[in-house]
Amino acid sequence: GVSWKLADHPKLPKGKTVAVVVLDGWGEAKPNEYNCIATAETPCMDSLKKGAPERWRLVRAHGTAVGLPTEDDMGNSEVGHNALGAGRIFAQGAKLVDIALASGKIFEGEGFNYIKESFANGTLHLIGLLSDGGVHSRLDQLQLLLKGVGERGVKRVRVHILTDGRDVLDGSSVGFVETLENDLAKLREKGIDAKIASGGGRMNVTMDRYENDWNVVKRGWDAQVLGEAPYKFTNALEAVKKLRAEPKANDQYLPPFVIVDESGKPVGPIVDGDAVVTFNFRADRMVMIAKSLEYENFDKFDRVRVPKIRYAGMLEYDGELKLPSHYLVSPPEIDRTSGEYLVKNGIRTFACSETVKFGHVTFFWNGNRSGYFNAELEKYVEIPSDSGITFNEKPNMKALQIAEKARDAILSRNFDQVRVNLPNGDMVGHTGDIEATVVACKAADEAVKMILDAIEQVGGIYVVTADHGNAEDMVKRDKSGNPLLKDGKVQILTSHTLEPVPIAIGGPGLSPGVRFRNDVPSGGLANVAATVINLHGFEAPSDYEQTLIEVADK
Ligand code: 3PG
Ligand code: CO
Repeated sequence: GVSWKLADHPKLPKGKTVAVVVLDGWGEAKPNEYNCIATAETPCMDSLKKGAPERWRLVRAHGTAVGLPTEDDMGNSEVGHNALGAGRIFAQGAKLVDIALASGKIFEGEGFNYIKESFANGTLHLIGLLSDGGVHSRLDQLQLLLKGVGERGVKRVRVHILTDGRDVLDGSSVGFVETLENDLAKLREKGIDAKIASGGGRMNVTMDRYENDWNVVKRGWDAQVLGEAPYKFTNALEAVKKLRAEPKANDQYLPPFVIVDESGKPVGPIVDGDAVVTFNFRADRMVMIAKSLEYENFDKFDRVRVPKIRYAGMLEYDGELKLPSHYLVSPPEIDRTSGEYLVKNGIRTFACSETVKFGHVTFFWNGNRSGYFNAELEKYVEIPSDSGITFNEKPNMKALQIAEKARDAILSRNFDQVRVNLPNGDMVGHTGDIEATVVACKAADEAVKMILDAIEQVGGIYVVTADHGNAEDMVKRDKSGNPLLKDGKVQILTSHTLEPVPIAIGGPGLSPGVRFRNDVPSGGLANVAATVINLHGFEAPSDYEQTLIEVADK
């Protein structure tokens, strides 16, 4: 069994309140007109940077430092919070699927054998995000999956696409649909009946998370399962082009559409005897659709018709709920997280964010595990997010309310660790609205200030960091870093970035000699867990990535 007892830190005391603040989508980059963080008034974050140089540094938040396949992979909240919480680097979903496809093992596992049973008499439906963003899914993985099922007896395939524009440039969906149509045409040449059956923008259709708005999933269900949507087209490329041409339309928010045949009949509703695979590897935005596809008792919306299907996820999306029961690739087994260690060593823990990021500081932080380790020592508070809006409409989001909850938790002295995620830079950054993102960054900075003030009052310690970049760069750049033009205009970057993120430590409770070591130059998010454990007065487990701090004799 695991020995949960952490050794005492030889130099650092216990009993200090530690605030752990994660600014979502807050990277470090040179100031310029597309750097919303630099443009915004952020006196609190500025003062941390300009303060003691040995208590501010940058850490890596993308690529292999967070378990992604390559250094070209931008960071994201899932892998970022996994690393922050787990203190070690695990090969993540993107990489595990790559490996399983490369070896062919994906086609030999339990999940694939299960869905394969439907190939002879049913249709295989593939539902997921159509882009090469690599955050939730990847087009090349879908292509290999299509090729693989084609070689393994599938007779009829229907793809239900979700257009992206959030992890990739807006407008790129057109090219991805073209690529997919080419692949489906190749399958048709081999005698396989393969078509796109429905679609819609990821933020409008299917990919809600943390139960913020079930209507999103319902719109997907209606199109994918029932074959019903407000828009009908005979061709997906035409659908995406036409719907994009509407005023204010973009890939993220395309309305749901179904593809119909000449007689107006939907080409691919999901019916009894079919198989369904949701091909996203990332969990947060698949849990809700997985429940709707799998649960017998389900009351979140009226499903109207519940087909008897064989359903598998690309990955298992929730290890506690065992959801879905069948999947093609096993997820990383993220065990012995810092949260679990600390609670088992008596650290009373408070975690809070608003709905859209709530699971980030709980589920992802705790190694993709829902719920408490010990309900007596922990309290997780979710502030309801606004739903039905794009966050540039209300860029302050719930930053103030999150900070107030954190402040109250700190001042109550009922908690040893108070952990929050402040979503503004990320959620507003994803809209591509530069002005709104500047407002968002200011709101996040004010929230940090409120939390640090509370830490000041109780003589505590703060750790302020981020999970990946976003708001610090809002433009697509060429290799030499200049904005890339298209039709004479700069291309707005809605996605995350490859930038490092800041980490700052301080507070009256921090022992005077504590400073960042300079022998961990390539430190990343995974090094933060050991650091936080130290600040609680413990030594980190020996297999954790090394701590970022040392205690100089003063
Ligand atoms: C999303 O799901 O909103 C984006 O694809 C990634 O954003 P996140 O990693 O910051 O949640
Ligand atoms: Co994001």
